[in-house]
Amino acid sequence: MLDVDHLVDIDTLSPEDLETVLDRAEAQKSGADDTQLPQTTMGMLFEKPSTRTRISFETGMTELGGHAIFLGPEDIQLGHGEPLKDTSRVLSRYVDVVMARLFDHADLLEIATYSDVPVVNGLTDEAHPCQTLADLLTIREAFDGFDDVQATWVGDGNNVGQSFVLGCALAGIDLTVCTPPEYGMSDAVLKRADELGHAPEVVEDPVEAVSDADVLYTDVWVSMGQEDRRAEKLAAFDGYQVNMDLLSETDAVVMHCLPAHRGEEITDDVLESDRVLVWDQAENRLHAQKGLLVELME
Ligand code: CP
Ligand code: NVA
Repeated sequence: MLDVDHLVDIDTLSPEDLETVLDRAEAQKSGADDTQLPQTTMGMLFEKPSTRTRISFETGMTELGGHAIFLGPEDIQLGHGEPLKDTSRVLSRYVDVVMARLFDHADLLEIATYSDVPVVNGLTDEAHPCQTLADLLTIREAFDGFDDVQATWVGDGNNVGQSFVLGCALAGIDLTVCTPPEYGMSDAVLKRADELGHAPEVVEDPVEAVSDADVLYTDVWVSMGQEDRRAEKLAAFDGYQVNMDLLSETDAVVMHCLPAHRGEEITDDVLESDRVLVWDQAENRLHAQKGLLVELME
């Protein structure tokens, strides 16, 4: 049982909480733990599209003996002017847990403030902690733990990257970050990682950044909601693509949260190669979230 009310970002969890969730996820995945959450309902609020988050939460709730309700912007009054705090108060009178995928991180905090039930961040512009849970579960499986794992992030200092920085800090993974200087991780995230005792090393050259890496992680350069900045961002990220040339400089396995924009941040041949962990990452969303939900709610 976790001593937290909500999962706002990955660093809501202590290092001990994180280990507890990952252990529970592993046990749910292997079948060693068959804890159920019968008669439990999740409300899933989506302001942005999703494949993995929606399907893994909905399937996870079914497998746990509960139920999930998809609530898109056109389905409820939220998209038609009802204040967020009213939606949150009302939702938590019906459901047992809320998962929300939103643009503004402050909106997630507001939902959590007014909710009587746990609120789980399913991605905001700043953070994607459920992805990080799956990423850390995948790394732990592939390397039999976190000891001596060297990870490198190449690309945009975005929501997935920021939660990965904090997740690596909690797990004690050495991380190198390589982004265009104007698209780095936020100062607040770097400061928080430092407070957690594991600030990432920031390196400018992608080849230098990947040379000692065991894990090379990238994500899209144009995130949801940034479509009008596409031309500007594609120009800024020239040279940061994860392609076969960059892979020839490292023995690292490649991670990506998906969906990928093939030909932009990562090439088709890399994603189709045997150097990727991306399909295990996607599957582990299901197991990681089941571990989280059981720990939050049993
Ligand atoms: N990785 C991830 O969150 O994917 P979706 O946008 O498909 O949910
Ligand atoms: N950075 C991406 C992640 C998608 C799962 C986005 O926010 O669109």
